[in-house]
Amino acid sequence: MKYNILTLFPDMIKQGLNSSIIGKAQEKKLINIETINIRDYALNKHKQVDDYPYGGGAGMVMQPEPIYEAYKEITKNSSKKPRVIYLTPQGKKFDQTMALELSKEEELIFLCGHYEGVDERVIEMVVTDEVSIGDYILTGGELAVMVMIDAISRLIPNVLSNETSAETETFDDNLLEYPQYTRPAVFMNRQVPDILLSGHHKNINMWRRQQSLIRTYNKRPDLLEKANLDEIDTKFLDKYCKKK
Ligand code: ADE
Repeated sequence: MKYNILTLFPDMIKQGLNSSIIGKAQEKKLINIETINIRDYALNKHKQVDDYPYGGGAGMVMQPEPIYEAYKEITKNSSKKPRVIYLTPQGKKFDQTMALELSKEEELIFLCGHYEGVDERVIEMVVTDEVSIGDYILTGGELAVMVMIDAISRLIPNVLSNETSAETETFDDNLLEYPQYTRPAVFMNRQVPDILLSGHHKNINMWRRQQSLIRTYNKRPDLLEKANLDEIDTKFLDKYCKKK
């Protein structure tokens, strides 16, 4: 996967994605993150990239030319035009399903806005997807792109060392993940559930499924509506609800 990020703050992104699992994935060449400084494509000698909005109003707007020039430069050798994702609170809400879908692309371009926004014409000309990471306003798209790249990259084969750890996890099936425990078996008088020490894998799996159901019911009941529940799950939940 190759990510090209058009931004005014490339250092912020490079620093944010250079450590831990995403840093290792870059070292192993499983992913390639390129940042393109939009300011390098400024047309004037002052390297200005923004201007006052036509019609008046607060703040500055990013001008179309530097963004368009930068876009042309990174796509000049691509036969197939990659998707161009503009990070904006007006976009479609990012979620695990979108992360999985995007992880199957070979190349993605991200456009990070700043100030009051980006000139509408360049958005119309190059952007294929508008994406928001949530209903709040950030100062720019940089943090949003880091969130997206982290979530997408961990779904790319071999980025996580233990492949199964991306398999059963929160949001698979629209269920939250079961609780996890490690050594010591007793911590400040709190004991790890006996069943996890039993070595009985069938029972452990059943207990984990039930814990997922209970957690989702208590913490994110909205997810249960979309969850794929079988008869055993439904019976268990009914019983649990009655007991509560
Ligand atoms: N830019 C500013 N706020 C944003 C958000 N919530 N999501 C994506 N990009 C943004």
